[in-house]
Amino acid sequence: MTAAQKTAKANFKKAIEYRKKTGVTLKEAFAHVYGKKVGAVKKKAAPKKKAAVKKKVVKRGAKTKVLKLTKQRGTSVKSYDKRHQALPSGKRKTAWGTTYYESRANRSDKGVLLGIKKYDFERYLEIGISNPRWCYNMVSCRDKDGVDPGYEFENNVANYKMTSDEFFELISEDKQWDVIFIDGLHLAHQVIKDINNSLKHLSPNGFLVIHDCSPLNVWRQRENYMMDNRYYPWNGTTWKAFYHLRTTRLDLSMCTVNTDSGVGIVRRGKQELVYDNNPFYDYNIFDFNRKQHLNLIECSEFSEWLTKTDNIE
Ligand SMILES: C[S@@+](CC[C@H](N)C(=O)[O-])C[C@H]1O[C@@H](n2cnc3c(N)ncnc32)[C@H](O)[C@@H]1O
Repeated sequence: MTAAQKTAKANFKKAIEYRKKTGVTLKEAFAHVYGKKVGAVKKKAAPKKKAAVKKKVVKRGAKTKVLKLTKQRGTSVKSYDKRHQALPSGKRKTAWGTTYYESRANRSDKGVLLGIKKYDFERYLEIGISNPRWCYNMVSCRDKDGVDPGYEFENNVANYKMTSDEFFELISEDKQWDVIFIDGLHLAHQVIKDINNSLKHLSPNGFLVIHDCSPLNVWRQRENYMMDNRYYPWNGTTWKAFYHLRTTRLDLSMCTVNTDSGVGIVRRGKQELVYDNNPFYDYNIFDFNRKQHLNLIECSEFSEWLTKTDNIE
């Protein structure tokens, strides 16, 4: 067992003992061991002013019409599109210094994907496309394939209009891709299946890219995507699938780039297994150990990680 694994194990034991002794919650026990404050009272933010209703003046001939532009509600594609917008369009720099154009919201996973292009990969597969403008259209590869049953976006451009399970049943055993972006159903059991199936079809030096591995908070990692007939920001339980591999797969190199809710990268190689101190996949334990459990790195460290994990036997 390595020093890091020993420390994780010892801290886990300490937290359990402390909880038994004091009767505090598991979260508080971990906070005690790691010397962090739990439930520190946040300063109340000043109440937001009611958003003024914007008015747009439209001139039609002699008449002038005033249109009220109220905030759009509901689950239309347009409002869904709006809510996902994070940063304005513009030129972005990737971790390895090249510039690319972000045509819509800053879904930086595209930055990672484009970075992977440094290997001149030619075959790309996206599991879960939804609106192709968000990612699929931005990837320039000789061969592109997409799988999506079309649950979310009306104009489904996937050439395989089906679930990922049906897709992997259908394709021939020898079919391979260099980059497989897993962004379909974000529930741990499905992500595990997608990862295992994708590994069977990954070229020798290829990558898996897995979206939403580092949820911002406990709400984001809930199981239900749609609630009360509405979509809210959602990462699902993808982190559990990633954590499972971090504790069990010696034959993979894995990291999560700390951007866009965590972009997991998996390639063949090797890794030091994480000591499993979270057998019940509790979010608070994950949160305390996030950096180690995901091997979380910053965008600026990604290029170095790629070089380090190149040609690992
Ligand atoms: C989060 S969206 C994909 C977003 C897109 N990849 C991007 O970068 O913005 C998830 C998509 O997965 C699709 N999906 C849901 N369940 C699926 C499954 N079992 N297999 C494949 N795709 C699935 C949905 O229809 C939806 O379009």
